[in-house]
Amino acid sequence: MVELRLPKNSRVTEGITWEKPSDAENVQEVRIYRYNPEDSENPRLDTFFVDLDKCGPMILDALIKIKNEIDPTLTFRRSCREGICGSCSMNIGGVNTLACLKGMKEFKGPINIYPLPHLPVIKDLVPDLNQFYKQHASIKPWLETSTDEPNEEWLQSEADRKQLDGLYECVMCACCSTSCPSYWWNGDKYLGPAALLHAYRWIIDSRDQDRKARLDDLNDSFKLYRCHTIMNCAKACPKGLNPAKAIAEIKKLQLQNS
Ligand code: SF4
Ligand code: SF4
Ligand code: FES
Repeated sequence: MVELRLPKNSRVTEGITWEKPSDAENVQEVRIYRYNPEDSENPRLDTFFVDLDKCGPMILDALIKIKNEIDPTLTFRRSCREGICGSCSMNIGGVNTLACLKGMKEFKGPINIYPLPHLPVIKDLVPDLNQFYKQHASIKPWLETSTDEPNEEWLQSEADRKQLDGLYECVMCACCSTSCPSYWWNGDKYLGPAALLHAYRWIIDSRDQDRKARLDDLNDSFKLYRCHTIMNCAKACPKGLNPAKAIAEIKKLQLQNS
């Protein structure tokens, strides 16, 4: 059998084990992926111990505590702390999710924390999302109109507005796209579940006047049809959205559009 191994310089090595807090009774072990592009070292897994009696309940609380009290060089993104900004996405216990929505009590034993998978890493838990954002921009995530501007606003019936439920809530965290095998292998050409969910959100907006051009643009063997309905995206979404369903709806509309 062929043995597949990572190139030497990308293997994750055992890192620093920080001291346990001596006076703590309720301790959680957390292992965190560390990578600094400014040194020539391999990525490593550092081990921290968090006193749960002096920490908030979420994984993000533990990361903030570690950064504030143990290692200020630990690098991660976060902003809102309530699942709205989408910036604290990472791979926790093998699952892509938002650190501020994931409770530490959901885990038994040590918790492993890595950056979102299959993206270049900028530092520690911060992946490079440039391509992800470019793909989002490519679907023109705004209202396209050709008729004259209304005096007040673009009106929409309640029923039409309802069509956007399950779509507009996306926080662009990239948990779905980075859990999609098709995106792993063709992420340069396949738009991925997040961008396609947004594409569908604008395609079905009753106020948009660019539906045909939007569908024509997506009618591409890579941009859209690399989705093989594996459903990892829907399982990964921390907001409970279903990008796979949106993609299936775009495919249906393509049949009517042809
Ligand atoms: S359903 Fe499509 S987009 Fe979702 S994980 Fe599977 S291949 Fe990717
Ligand atoms: S669909 Fe869900 S997982 Fe994907 S980017 Fe939006 S919020 Fe994140
Ligand atoms: S910090 Fe904003 S979603 Fe987690």
